[in-house]
Amino acid sequence: MYRSNTCGELRISDVNKQVTLAGWVQRSRKMGGMTFIDLRDRYGITQLVFNEEVNAELCERANHLGREFVIQVKGTVNERFSKNQHIPTGDIEIIVSELDVLNSSLTPPFTIEENTDGGDDIRMKYRYLDLRRANVRNNLELRHKMTIEVRKYLDNQGFIEVETPILVGSTPEGARDFVVPSRMNPGQFYALPQSPQTLKQLLMVSGFDRYFQIAKCFRDEDLRADRQPEFTQIDCEMSFVEQDDVINLFEGMAKYLFKEIRGVEMDEPFMRMPWADAMKYYGSDKPDLRFGMKFVELMDIMKGHGFPVFDNAAYIGGICAEGAAHYTRKQLDALTEFVKRPQIGAKGMVYARVEADGNVKSSVDKFYTQEVLQEMKAAFNAKPGDLILILSGDDAMKTRKQLNELRLEMGNQLGLRDKNKFVCLWVVDFPMFEWSDEEGRLMAMHHPFTHPKDEDIPLLDTNPAAVRADAYDMVCNGIEVGGGSIRIHDAQLQAKMFEILGFTPEKAQEQFGFLMNAFKYGAPPHGGLAYGLDRWVSIFAGLDSIRDCIAFPKNNSGRDVMLDAPSAIDQKQLDELNLIVEVKE
Ligand code: AMO
Repeated sequence: MYRSNTCGELRISDVNKQVTLAGWVQRSRKMGGMTFIDLRDRYGITQLVFNEEVNAELCERANHLGREFVIQVKGTVNERFSKNQHIPTGDIEIIVSELDVLNSSLTPPFTIEENTDGGDDIRMKYRYLDLRRANVRNNLELRHKMTIEVRKYLDNQGFIEVETPILVGSTPEGARDFVVPSRMNPGQFYALPQSPQTLKQLLMVSGFDRYFQIAKCFRDEDLRADRQPEFTQIDCEMSFVEQDDVINLFEGMAKYLFKEIRGVEMDEPFMRMPWADAMKYYGSDKPDLRFGMKFVELMDIMKGHGFPVFDNAAYIGGICAEGAAHYTRKQLDALTEFVKRPQIGAKGMVYARVEADGNVKSSVDKFYTQEVLQEMKAAFNAKPGDLILILSGDDAMKTRKQLNELRLEMGNQLGLRDKNKFVCLWVVDFPMFEWSDEEGRLMAMHHPFTHPKDEDIPLLDTNPAAVRADAYDMVCNGIEVGGGSIRIHDAQLQAKMFEILGFTPEKAQEQFGFLMNAFKYGAPPHGGLAYGLDRWVSIFAGLDSIRDCIAFPKNNSGRDVMLDAPSAIDQKQLDELNLIVEVKE
């Protein structure tokens, strides 16, 4: 028997018991004739005690244990003299009578404790050691719990979990594909699924009615804090449903998870905000509603008073930061620099403070009378002590996006983005298409299988850019946690969609023939959604990056530095695959 108990288990009620423990040496301390060792396993830390006076030989051996040695000890549970309130086993210690070294360890490259001295790179390279740290492991335990609860919930709702293949064909769905060469079909490639989108629609044609899968997805995109090239979706699809049916069911799941995982009750229905409003008032299709600072448009008030920047603008809008009038000139200059960064691209920022007497003092006072400034103050409903920040530009959408960045930054600076507060909403009525400058054509905003709003179908012929879709995203704290849509189930409408997206009938047949053909055999009306599991876990765990809830993540260049992948492959493997590699500079 390797152990009778885990390292997180023993309590004061176990005093005097004979126990056997096994685990890793986290640290040891020598104090006079006593040696103390913190023994760690997945379940916790237990203090071991060796007393030179009682057993000098045993104590001497304990003194030679290095960090991360794997040991087994036998001993007696003893009440600790100085208790440690910070750990659940802090009332007891083990007076060790036998010690076995099960394995030695090299000195680890960083300390394996909650507060480590290891930088990101080294911890990624030795990820298996990083995973020994309780805070990293806790994230994975939370992830495990999430998937269990998701399965429970969906099973109760009659969903069937179906696995779909990883080696599939390439289907353009926004991002770039990862491809895999086929040995048996020289010169041909599989693509890894960006999502099981078309396959889950086929399962609806098969009559599965309610499908889900905790599905690995692969996208060759540039990485960000909330993006990994391979990530996991809670992917779902339902037949005979309308948008409200899907939203209500998955809102139910979201609330269930908040309650089960975080103990947060969310009684109120999630707000549903049309995409157009999200853009108009927050400059983002994923507004963070933990705080206010809703945009106020100022064209009517601020244009035409001789301030050239505003007079030439297509959009003037601002936010009101409550109680931030104390911002110094230096802080305001830093904010101006922030919005002028190339990633954001604003030309400048105008600010105005509401003073104690109610007067407004702005950075453009010479162009505006106090009367106009008071009108502006009223538009924001601003009070003494508030700070108003204004951006303008010649492209309304671009300026709103810049204002969004400023709003989020102010949210950060004023401490309004509390990680323990959760505000979810549905963004609905997305546009069907968006114009791509790169491609020079309309692209599907969600994906090409999304159903247009019935009332907008006539616009497909006359003004496709104005067509709205039965598409919805769930947003939590400014993060897009999930998205979905009602699908087209009519082969003709689908063919029309491909035409608008610039596919010739031949190209559409080549890439999506399997789906359009399937739709000829009685496709039910259907729709669904996919939640990003990694994003959800990271919100629950209060993480800044989804990397921290993935056991073996990629770094920002898409590399697994632990496995050193990707890497070149042997000539023999290339020959088998009938491939010649020529790397273009
Ligand atoms: P979408 O592309 O919006 O929809 O993806 C659904 C959810 O998956 C998560 N997600 C990601 N998470 C981590 N890293 C990434 N690179 C990444 N990309 C997406 C997000 C997102 O909301 N087939 C459709 C869903 C449907 O229509 O049913 C789809 O994939 O949380």
